Amino acid sequence: MSKLKLAVIVGSNRKESINRRFAGALIRLVSDHVHAHFVRIDDLPMYNQDLETDRPEAVNRFTCEIGHANALLLVTPEHNRSIPAVLKNAIDWGSKPLDRNVWKGKVAIITGTSPSAIGTAVGQQHLRQVLGILGSLVIGGEAYISFKPDLIDEDGGFAIESTRAFLKAYMEPFLAIAAKLAVQPDCMS
Ligand code: FNR
Repeated sequence: MSKLKLAVIVGSNRKESINRRFAGALIRLVSDHVHAHFVRIDDLPMYNQDLETDRPEAVNRFTCEIGHANALLLVTPEHNRSIPAVLKNAIDWGSKPLDRNVWKGKVAIITGTSPSAIGTAVGQQHLRQVLGILGSLVIGGEAYISFKPDLIDEDGGFAIESTRAFLKAYMEPFLAIAAKLAVQPDCMS
């Protein structure tokens, strides 16, 4: 069976983002099943409907990269109990115009990490809601991971077996459903 083309969106524009490291470890865990591509969102201008008639190049690149994916993995921090503005901005760009909404029909999975114990739980709920109204099929379940210095080892993988087992079990239904429902890649720019 061919590998799933997975677009990975990290909801942080921070160079040392713990969510980017977390996403990297997660991809390593499922690398037998996916061909992952990290999609940049930090170069997108602030959404402005006036720009729709002549979309900035970065926006076309972004929508094309999402369009080419079979499925989505969103790994995001929580900002003030919601999703970071940089991620919401990317989602807004991908949602317009309505007939070129890149989120529609995509199988998606959400997770995130924060130094706090329940960090990202509320942000993930908001993200689930936003992607839901845009027509993504967001797989159920929850995985919000408390980031500790020993979470990820020097090789970029999860250091602790119980974390590996938990996240594998979280990803498995997503991989199975995404493999069945994978939409045909299409550049939506
Ligand atoms: C945060 N942080 C945070 N953490 C959390 O668990 N719940 C929250 O609501 C917030 N709110 C929040 C707002 C703003 C403006 C900032 C800058 C930060 C802390 C956050 O989890 C921490 O900065 C992480 O390191 C962010 O993840 P990245 O960017 O390192 O991936």
